[in-house]
Amino acid sequence: MGATDAIILVGGMGTRLRPLTLSAPKPMLPTAGVPFLTHLVARIREAGVTHIVLGTSYRAEVFQSYFGDGSAFGVEMEYVIEAEPLGTGGGIRNVVDRLRGDTVLAFNGDVLSGVDLRELLATHDDTDADVTLYLTKVEDPRAFGCVPTDAEGRVTAFLEKDPDPVTDQINAGTYVFRRALLDAIPAGRPVSVERETFPGLLAAGARVMGHVDETYWRDLGRPADFVAGSADLVQGLAPSPALPGPIGRALVLPGARVDPTAVLSGGTTVGVGAVVWAGAVVDGSVLFDGATVGPGAVVRRSVLGFGAVVGAGAVLEDAVVGDRSRIGDRVELLGGARVWPDVTVPDGGIRFSSDL
Ligand code: GTP
Repeated sequence: MGATDAIILVGGMGTRLRPLTLSAPKPMLPTAGVPFLTHLVARIREAGVTHIVLGTSYRAEVFQSYFGDGSAFGVEMEYVIEAEPLGTGGGIRNVVDRLRGDTVLAFNGDVLSGVDLRELLATHDDTDADVTLYLTKVEDPRAFGCVPTDAEGRVTAFLEKDPDPVTDQINAGTYVFRRALLDAIPAGRPVSVERETFPGLLAAGARVMGHVDETYWRDLGRPADFVAGSADLVQGLAPSPALPGPIGRALVLPGARVDPTAVLSGGTTVGVGAVVWAGAVVDGSVLFDGATVGPGAVVRRSVLGFGAVVGAGAVLEDAVVGDRSRIGDRVELLGGARVWPDVTVPDGGIRFSSDL
């Protein structure tokens, strides 16, 4: 039967990705050359689902101005705005009147994944489930929602951020719902699907199934994952029909300038109008449009915001540089330091490892 509608939750503030999310909501940040959501929309379309409803709140207008009615992306896109954020469950409940079919695919808007969505839908149909949760396995499940299943694949518990996990299976942030079930989510107030809806459904005896998939999965909520996810897309480790160029060691967008003596590697993206000067090394990093890396600078696993500048001989590792900021010549920015937008760090051999 399959789903006819998809809901994507994109209303979060993206606080963990600040300062990048000050200028754009997390799902709209350039990831392997296009807003992250473009990759997800392309995968949903590829699975044959063409009606997509975005549950928006923070910076809602940015989505509509990019995707419009969705036709340029081969889908029909609708937008529902929450005046106050309603959380993940509330966000799903809030768009119910836009849905057309009996089966609904719901996505957290910041997950990069290789799961075959047709297979996920098939599990839902074949097992006659009320809800099917996409589950993946991670080495350390403590920071996630742990979801044990029985021999039949039926979910037996939902243990959010359990310090002593009983399984390495976690909630991967994509769900298939029987449409009728969504009416039971309380309307008009914040609801967490993870903390309230799923435990409630289990307690009520609903048929909640798990679909375990161990192909690619990454939640792009933190800077390190955002950078790694973008690099994985560029290198073809994470699948996307929307990659704006061939798979390779780097993606250089039109209008970017890279000196022939510079070295790009590790799935680096160089945005439109960005410049990489002679002798620079840029590894596994994301350069937003108009960013500049000076001569001989080394930039690893870092994000440079729109128009950010890295001076000659500077060294950045695991850094996030806000839009239009300038990192002076020979400055070292290490250990996950974040620089807020419009900051100038003066030239000189200074080492920083905390936020500026
Ligand atoms: P942090 O502030 O860094 O935790 O990020 P976040 O606000 O995006 O929260 P989180 O990563 O937990 O959200 C998972 C997904 O749900 C993201 O795609 C969010 O955009 C989305 N989301 C979170 N809260 C809401 C909400 O209140 N309403 C809607 N519509 N979506 C939400």
